[in-house]
Amino acid sequence: MTMSDYFHYQQDRLFVENVPLSDIAQRFGTPCYVYSHAALADGFRRFEEALAGCSHQVCYAVKANSSLAVLNLFARMGAGFDIVSGGELRRVLAAGGDVSKVVFSGVGKTAAEMRQALEAGILCFNVESEAELIRLNEVARETGRTAPISLRVNPDVDPKTHPYISTGLKQSKFGVTYADALALYRKAAGMPGLRITGLDCHIGSQLTEVSPFIAAAEKVLALADALAREGIALEHLDLGGGLGIRYHDETPPSIADYATALKGMMQGRREKLLVEPGRALVGNAGVLLTRVEYLKHGAEKHFAIVDAAMNDLMRPALYDAYHDIREAERRGIPAQRYEVVGPVCESGDFLGRDRELAVIQGDVLAVMSAGAYGMSMSSNYNTRPRAAEVMVDGGMVKVIRERETVEQLFAGEYLPF
Ligand code: LLP
Repeated sequence: MTMSDYFHYQQDRLFVENVPLSDIAQRFGTPCYVYSHAALADGFRRFEEALAGCSHQVCYAVKANSSLAVLNLFARMGAGFDIVSGGELRRVLAAGGDVSKVVFSGVGKTAAEMRQALEAGILCFNVESEAELIRLNEVARETGRTAPISLRVNPDVDPKTHPYISTGLKQSKFGVTYADALALYRKAAGMPGLRITGLDCHIGSQLTEVSPFIAAAEKVLALADALAREGIALEHLDLGGGLGIRYHDETPPSIADYATALKGMMQGRREKLLVEPGRALVGNAGVLLTRVEYLKHGAEKHFAIVDAAMNDLMRPALYDAYHDIREAERRGIPAQRYEVVGPVCESGDFLGRDRELAVIQGDVLAVMSAGAYGMSMSSNYNTRPRAAEVMVDGGMVKVIRERETVEQLFAGEYLPF
C-alpha cells in the first residue's frame, strides 16, 4: 500500500479512506483540502521503521504543510520539526510539538527569531553564513544562553530536480561553501555564545533518485571526520529533506529504501542521524477538491473552469508542476481533453493542461498529491478567501481549518486618509 492508495475508487466514486470525496465537497464546500489521517501516519511510521536500530530523529519540514492538526499528528508520533521562521516555531508550540526536537533552518533568521528560538530551547540552529554565526553569537550572549549550532554546508551535488527547488549547488544562496566549512567551524568554536553540535545539508526537493543523497552524505561524513580530527566532535548529522513523491510517472525511491540507504551510511558512527522530510510525509496524503463552474468550448481548446485557482495551489503556475486530476464521480459519458483553469485573472492560472476528463458542469474534481506545498503556499490573490481543510480518519471527517471569510481578509486594513 502506498500513500496514494488511501484515495481509491469504489465502483465509480473516489474515496478517501471510507468516505466519498463528493460527499465531502457537498458538506464542506469547495475548494477544500482533504487529508487522510491514515496516509499521514503511515508515512511517518515508514520512516521510523526503516530507521529503527539507528539513532535518529525525524524532523518534519513544517513548510510543506503547517496546519496545526497535521503538526499535532506528527508530534504525537514523536516527530521533531524543521522550521524556517518564528511563525513556524509558534505553530509547532501551538500544536504540542516538542521544542527540544526542533531545528531552525533558513538563510535570513532575524535577531528576534533567534531570541525566540533560544528562549524556547530548540535542538539546533542550522546556520547558513558567517554573518549569521556572528549575529547568533551576539544574540546568545545578550540572552545569557548558548546556542547549539550546525553549519549548513553546500555539498555541490546536483539533485537533478527543478532549478527552483535545487538548493545544494555552488551558485545557490543556501548554506556555506564546502571548502569554507572547516575554517568557519574553527571560528564558531571560538565564539563563547555558540556550542557546536552538528553538521547539516539539504540539497533540494522532489529528488527521484537515491544517488545524490548518498553523494551529499559522503561529503558530510568526510567533513565530520575532518572536524573530529581537530577535536570538534559532533552529536548529530542532519541530511535534510528532499525525498520526492510520485505525481505523475516519476519513480522515486520508497521511504523505506531511502531511509535504509541513509542508515547504511551511518553504520558504525556515533552521531545521531537527523532527516527533514516534508513532501514525502504529506504530499500524497492530501487532495484539493474543486467544482466545475463552467465548461467553455473555445476555438482551439476546451476549458473546464473550476472554483480552485493558482492562489489555492500555486505549484502548476509556479513550477509547471503536474498534479493528476480525477473525477470524484465517474460518469458514463465520453471524455474530452480540457484545460483545467481557475477564475483568477492570469493566463498562468491553471491546475492542469490537456487532461482527459468526463465531466459536466457542477461535477467535483480532485487535484491529487496536493498535501505538500499546497495550502502552505496559498495566497489571497484576487481577494479569494483560502480554502477549508478537513481531515478524514476512517469514516470520520473533521474540519481542521475553517474556510477564510472575506471579512478576515480586510480585518487589519484602515482608511486613514
Ligand atoms: N529542509 C530544508 C532546509 C528545506 O529547505 C526543505 C524544503 C526541506 C527540508 C523539505 O524538503 P522536502 O522533503 O519537502 O523536499 N515549494 C516547492 C518545494 C520547496 C522546498 C523548499 N525546501 C514545491 O512545491 O515543490
